[in-house]
Amino acid sequence: MSALQSDQTASRPDGRLLKALKGECLSPPPIWLMRQAGRYLPEYRELRAKAGGFLDLCYAPQMAAEVTLQPIRRYGFDAAILFADILLIPQALGQKLWFETGEGPRLDPLEGGAAIAALDIGNVEAHLAPVFETVDRLRTALPGETDLIGFAGSPWTVATYMIAGRGTPDQAPARLFAYRDPVAFQALMDVLVEATAIYLAAQVKAGADVLQLFDTWAGVLPEAEFARWSIAPTKALVARLRALGVRVPIIGFPKGAGALLPRYVAETGVDAVGLDPSTPLSWAVPHVADKTVCQGNLDPLLLVAGGDGMVRAVDAILEAFDGRPFVFNLGHGIVPQTPPEHVGQLVKRVRGE
Ligand code: CP3
Repeated sequence: MSALQSDQTASRPDGRLLKALKGECLSPPPIWLMRQAGRYLPEYRELRAKAGGFLDLCYAPQMAAEVTLQPIRRYGFDAAILFADILLIPQALGQKLWFETGEGPRLDPLEGGAAIAALDIGNVEAHLAPVFETVDRLRTALPGETDLIGFAGSPWTVATYMIAGRGTPDQAPARLFAYRDPVAFQALMDVLVEATAIYLAAQVKAGADVLQLFDTWAGVLPEAEFARWSIAPTKALVARLRALGVRVPIIGFPKGAGALLPRYVAETGVDAVGLDPSTPLSWAVPHVADKTVCQGNLDPLLLVAGGDGMVRAVDAILEAFDGRPFVFNLGHGIVPQTPPEHVGQLVKRVRGE
């Protein structure tokens, strides 16, 4: 792990997130939160209203950078995460994407092999150029000690939305598609691996210090399919990024992977792994934390509730990973009804202030 280093930021000393991801044991651990920029913050809602739609915000570098900085100013997190979305990749490949207010993402569903063959990788880098400009602006605007996280969805999770055209409770349409036509589904994985590698390598070139792969829907897959559609494409993506010269640490987040986490860690080549809230600490420490750097895993609803319950859970997480390299985070993204003052209390508790 110690051979890893940031590509563009050789002159910038590692921040606390980078140190932990390279195996340093920090007390207190670095903290950032998935979806730390977003609707729970009044300043986000204000800017979002000015931008028009959510996608307009993603493609407007000055505003997207501003939204990324908002939670850093408020809470002083150890890392900022680029403001964008995992579904920009299908859009860059030519699939129609829009957001229904209050309902989430919608895409024109991919209905078969012909629709997959029509996806066009040639335009990905040009289409996503505004995102790279956001990264570039952020690297200049962020405090020197704040690491910058770039991200993308893992091929499996992105594919679930491309096939169903939306989020569903168990992403059954993609699972069924993959069972019925694994050859076409593999072709989709191959396109997504290549497009995502291009996208993430360009984020690193623009200044991202760390990458995170969101595999939000990994947990709906049975063991054999988890190996085939979560592990294998992630492994191919990590290998492709390394072949492109990307040397920054990569965090994998296979939500719901459960007992398959050690296998994910052993086979994908990621440098750290995000744990979801249902992963028991007593199991994760011997089975995962002994092999890689862990990140997580407070239940986002405990952050909504706040108070003693939150404090006890935070302390239990800190105690479980004490003496190991660790990154404090939630086990999934912040939800919009989170009171902003609870986030401040969380950061203070983790830092022992
Ligand atoms: O973490 C951050 O602060 C960075 C920004 C970020 C967003 N989406 C902004 C966003 C990140 C890392 C994501 C990842 C993402 N997007 C995932 C994987 C992680 C997860 O949460 O499961 C997924 C599945 C998506 C797809 C997506 N985008 C959905 C399902 C939704 C609708 C759900 C919702 O919260 O409304 C979005 C919209 C979205 N992405 C918003 C934000 C701030 C809300 C849009 C708004 O302002 O109305």
